[in-house]
Amino acid sequence: MAKSRLASIRWTLLLSLVILLGCLVVPGLTVKHENFKKCSQSGFCKRNRAFADDVSAKGSSWSSPYELDPSSIEFKDGKLQGTILKTVSANEKVRLPLVVSFLESGVARVVIDEEKRLKGDIEIRHNSRARKERYNEAEKWALVGGLELSKSASLNPDTETGFTKVLYGPDKKFQAVIHHAPFNVEFQMDGHTHVQFNNKGYMNMEHWRPKVDGDTEEDQSTWWEETFGGNTDSKPRGPESVGLDITFPGYAHVFGIPEHADALSLRETRGGSGNHEEPYRMHNSDVFEYELNSPMTLYGSIPFMQAHRKDSTVGVFWLNAAETWVDIVKSTASANPLSLGVGGKTTTQSHWFSESGQIDVFVFLGPTPQDISKTYGELTGYTQLPQHFAIAYHQCRWNYVTDEDVKEVDVKFDRYQIPYDVIWLDIEYLDDRQYFTWDPLTFPNPKGMEEQLDASDRKLVVIIDPHIKDKDGYWVVKEMLNKDLATKNKDGEVYEGWCWPGASHWVDCFNPEAIKWWTSLFKYDRFKGTLPNVFIWNDMNEPSVFNGPETTMPKDNLHYGNWEHRDIHNVHGITLVNATYDALLERKKGEIRRPFILTRSYYAGAQRMSAMWTGDNQATWEHLAISLPMVLNNGISGFPFAGADVGGFFHNPSKELLTRWYQAGIWYPFFRAHAHIDTRRREPYLISDPYRAIISQAIRLRYQLLPAWYTAFHEASVNGTPIVRPQYYVHPSDEQGFAIDDQLYLGATGLLTKPVVSEGATTADVYIADGEKYYDYFDYTIYQAQKVPLLMQGGHIIPRKDRPRRSSGLMKWDPFTLVITLDKNGEAEGTLYVDDGETFDYQRGAYIHRRFHFQASTLSSEDLGTKGPKTAEYLKTMAGVRVEKMIVIDPPKEWQEKKSATVIEEGTRTASTVSVEYFSQTGGKAPYVVVKNPNVGIGKTWKIEF
Ligand code: NOJ
Repeated sequence: MAKSRLASIRWTLLLSLVILLGCLVVPGLTVKHENFKKCSQSGFCKRNRAFADDVSAKGSSWSSPYELDPSSIEFKDGKLQGTILKTVSANEKVRLPLVVSFLESGVARVVIDEEKRLKGDIEIRHNSRARKERYNEAEKWALVGGLELSKSASLNPDTETGFTKVLYGPDKKFQAVIHHAPFNVEFQMDGHTHVQFNNKGYMNMEHWRPKVDGDTEEDQSTWWEETFGGNTDSKPRGPESVGLDITFPGYAHVFGIPEHADALSLRETRGGSGNHEEPYRMHNSDVFEYELNSPMTLYGSIPFMQAHRKDSTVGVFWLNAAETWVDIVKSTASANPLSLGVGGKTTTQSHWFSESGQIDVFVFLGPTPQDISKTYGELTGYTQLPQHFAIAYHQCRWNYVTDEDVKEVDVKFDRYQIPYDVIWLDIEYLDDRQYFTWDPLTFPNPKGMEEQLDASDRKLVVIIDPHIKDKDGYWVVKEMLNKDLATKNKDGEVYEGWCWPGASHWVDCFNPEAIKWWTSLFKYDRFKGTLPNVFIWNDMNEPSVFNGPETTMPKDNLHYGNWEHRDIHNVHGITLVNATYDALLERKKGEIRRPFILTRSYYAGAQRMSAMWTGDNQATWEHLAISLPMVLNNGISGFPFAGADVGGFFHNPSKELLTRWYQAGIWYPFFRAHAHIDTRRREPYLISDPYRAIISQAIRLRYQLLPAWYTAFHEASVNGTPIVRPQYYVHPSDEQGFAIDDQLYLGATGLLTKPVVSEGATTADVYIADGEKYYDYFDYTIYQAQKVPLLMQGGHIIPRKDRPRRSSGLMKWDPFTLVITLDKNGEAEGTLYVDDGETFDYQRGAYIHRRFHFQASTLSSEDLGTKGPKTAEYLKTMAGVRVEKMIVIDPPKEWQEKKSATVIEEGTRTASTVSVEYFSQTGGKAPYVVVKNPNVGIGKTWKIEF
């Protein structure tokens, strides 16, 4: 193996002493399959799969009916336009406008629409008011930038007839090769094809046609009406799906397209051993008791896929908000000289199809995973830099039953010295399930409760869902109906369905007026009983409708602008989050703080406004295990502020499982314990020792590393990198590590952990990809250690705060510790980002961003920030925050005699001396040096010479 090296580290786990105590067997429940469609029960899925099968069966005797009319092609200012003709019969050709945009970022975008529908030249059945165009507003919700057209993209003059070639991207290293007939596109980098459209010939644009009664040649059984589970979809526009095959030649792994409870490296979906039988489905749904290792849909969708092979990552983003399925098939070419450079390599073919809308696909050619994160983030936005409290520990359950209950939990955390930042209220705080109210009997004094929390700088999150109870005298529903802001049914009347409150209506956040009104509801004088330390949880926003088809809204419901629910379904959730985000920005004039919202449903772009969690998991080991690939997958898919219910939502975890879940949960970017109403109370102080002590230690470890976490969040917020990173992302050359999804790195810190996710485990193997040294976090053993498997890769400087406190807010002015893990060459570097953790002042320079570097026996801190109008004032507030300790791990041998080091800080005229102590260790543990109280400012430029 070239440079990479496999080392297996065996850990003895702290819990092994106690695993035999407190075991409880929890039955795993499983989803009701009959409530959700299989591909064969979804008309367009069935049709597209059958089409692909038919095309494959015909082989070379078949040719795709789509061709680009050469006389229509125009290229100007980075944009190619033309018309694709779909041959339907000898005398019918359907015109499909094509636009290929070459963006300044190096991304290419291919959009295909249908001329007749664009012109409104179709008839809609059942007198429906539904729009005639194909839905083209998904970008309104998903995209925020990155669309600037390339100034340098140009036609390649050296092109054969029958092709159009466009050179684009950085240094024109990329080329789009468009074959006219049949229409297909190859995206090349450095002369090799990395992404292909329609080379299998599965492209399918179901054009509009009138319904003809009587016998027809084609099987029309799924064209006009579809019934599932007693609900009939009237399909006023008939069949209108879009489909395309996208191939990644030479790429064996594809990742992404969350949300699925499955491995990180996606499986094949056309059957065979270890493969799925069903395509991966994206149709945001409230899937009760979801199953694992499954391509079934879940609550959120990000139709963004990355393909990875040694040293190259490419990707596609399928911008379509309708129900979407993706088939994946892999094939391995035999290694012969004619196989055009992919001999012996595995190729992955994906086949995408959506029920309606346009074909709208972005192509990313990397070649690094970081390039993909960056350019995808330019389009859909980067992770919001959350308020600092939001990255600490959240305590939730369904439900804390009274305001006194909340206050007592708060006091108990302190009594047991377990830090936490946020306590949550689920739907039982409401008066009769009416949002924006409080149950007067159980929560008579919400402000008193919030004030107590605020005294320890703690927050409250309350749930607000999009279904509004239909009840006489309820002011919210009255206002919504009076202002005509609710979603309509197919006949244009206010839609009514069932959810927690019983009969309900849904706010239609596609309507700008609805956003304005929703915003008004959160003002302190309207949502009475809330103080500034109250934040929001948007749940059930798929939307979940208990009596709706597949537990959601009928597809022929109508939204603002007469778009059918079918067209917008997967962005529905984020339209609510978008409105809530605006609302939290404007609760009071002048009070501008970063909103915090947790959402269950999501789409590309949700990362700009919210955090997500993986919904209603179960207290089983398997659910604990799957949470890691799920969180990692969200991270590489642009939405890294992700977590799973710690402890498992349904059922009661054993003590061992709960403890292991906390030890794993501290590595979720969003770290929240939550539990179903029928479960026993399980606040961490309730569990007996030694579990309580182990859980407290885990939570404290999270708090100790908050500076590193916040720095990783900051990085995500400026360049899209995941907050926790899978193996392939950190070691893109190490082929053996590509499918590993049970261990993770925290940001760029070099901290590598492998949570324990199996019952009774007493050892764990950690996979090491490189030849670097790895030190145990706790005792600096090189390669072998005890306790939680947590390693520090050599070559990093990790910022920490070591003083235990009750909440992260109380740590604000605490001094820092820097842990310096030297690499093989005796060097290390790291970064730290700090700001007020609350406001947007960082956008005006109120932050500290440092690079720490250790080289040639000198540790230095350099400024990475740029000055803004608020810099000086902020630095003044931070002047007293200093570094209280530095630990240099595995220092040069000569340091044994070292007693002091020289400190030079900017702005001080003379150098000072600081004492240094060397600790030698035995038994494979690295020696280390402690610098006590070097007393350098965290916001200052300084140097320490050893
Ligand atoms: C469903 C959510 O997934 C769950 O977390 C919550 O407790 C219930 N809704 C009740 O609001």
